[in-house]
Amino acid sequence: MVETERAHWGSRIGFILAAAGSAVGLGNIWKFPYITGENGGGAFVLVYLACIAFVGLPIMIAEISLGRATQKSPASAMRSLSPGGGWIGIGWLCILTSVCLLSYYATVAGWALHYCYLAFSGQISGQGPEQLQAAFGSLTATPSLGVAWQLAFMALTVLVVVAGVSHGVERWSRILMPTLAVMLLILLGKAFTLSGFGQGMDFLFGFRADKLTPGGVLEALGHAFFTLSLGMGTMITYGSYLRREDDLVSASVMTSAVDTLVALVASMMLFPIIFTFGLEAGQGPGLLFVTVPIALAQMTGGGLLSIVFFVLLAFAALTSAISMLEVVTAYLMDDWGLSRRRSTVCAGIGIAALGIPATVSTGWFGQIDYYVSNWMLPLGGLGVALFVAWRMDAALRRGAFESGSMLAKFYKGWLWVLKYPVPVAVGLVFLHAVGVL
Ligand code: TRP
Repeated sequence: MVETERAHWGSRIGFILAAAGSAVGLGNIWKFPYITGENGGGAFVLVYLACIAFVGLPIMIAEISLGRATQKSPASAMRSLSPGGGWIGIGWLCILTSVCLLSYYATVAGWALHYCYLAFSGQISGQGPEQLQAAFGSLTATPSLGVAWQLAFMALTVLVVVAGVSHGVERWSRILMPTLAVMLLILLGKAFTLSGFGQGMDFLFGFRADKLTPGGVLEALGHAFFTLSLGMGTMITYGSYLRREDDLVSASVMTSAVDTLVALVASMMLFPIIFTFGLEAGQGPGLLFVTVPIALAQMTGGGLLSIVFFVLLAFAALTSAISMLEVVTAYLMDDWGLSRRRSTVCAGIGIAALGIPATVSTGWFGQIDYYVSNWMLPLGGLGVALFVAWRMDAALRRGAFESGSMLAKFYKGWLWVLKYPVPVAVGLVFLHAVGVL
């Protein structure tokens, strides 16, 4: 049945948990720790915080405002505000990016599920480094195994999204996000007792400004963008389920704060583990699926801790995947008039099929990730920022920002940042990412 009334979040905290669930993902637990280490720790962290506050947060507010003002998903939002304009292309780009990103996000999320299984069946604790290395090797070298877990993960995602905005996405975010916080604190508590804790903290927060490069600054900007789930219509879609009276500005501030906190806490837990066991803080999926298990296997209580760690990872990936699928579902419902059930199932099957090549071929995985991260996300983000700053009706924009907000007095400042520094910054990230700068 086609819904006649648009669905809404049941509460403000529900919205914040869902938006934070989208933002907190592999980017926080895996990517942030290692790029921080590579870029000189403390100085990079400061730059990153500035990027979140002055670029990420303004774009997030722009996306959520656009969604709430139109009560529509990305393409129809653009169409309704700028009929016949080329802007709808940005809306379509957002939807295409969601499809592509989810297709291979599910590959890594599938690995996380497989590791949950290994942890629960006691196949991590007590294993030697060679065995754990081989376990990851055989997972990536056995297509049927990878695909089975990828499909299982997509099925879980579909199940949550089918249930709807407040009964599915919001309800599960309310359960998964607090659990994730507790697990993170348990792991942090354990890291605190390790001998490498001080060294890990120093690596992370020691201020080595000389290690910071212009490339590092652009990387911080690019990551601020990715970690807040910007540039692909997620926040437009989630904003479209916000009620008029909700304070979207403080909700955006809260969401960015939670995301940043999780990235910091995850790093404070990972680096001490790595240093204590004398492991490499190097790049790649290996950090999560080889290095971390090697360390967990040697720890007292490692069996239980590995369960906590991989369930945490799977939860973080699930709440992110839900939000990507929701973008496509909302598009099919809004523009094609399909029911939620049909939209979700069709989108889920299509995206799962598209993800199979990424699961079986690392070449494809690398390619699609390259285009999504370097081309599609920055272009989408730039498009949305320019649209809201320069094209959206001023009264509508102001209303969307100010309605229900106790931070209404920041409207002018926000608009200025969105008009000038943000497009320049995102433009620079784009040029850097595609290799021009
Ligand atoms: N923010 C997610 C992370 O840090 C990744 C991500 C990027 C994402 N864009 C997204 C998640 C859109 C959900 C929706 O891992």
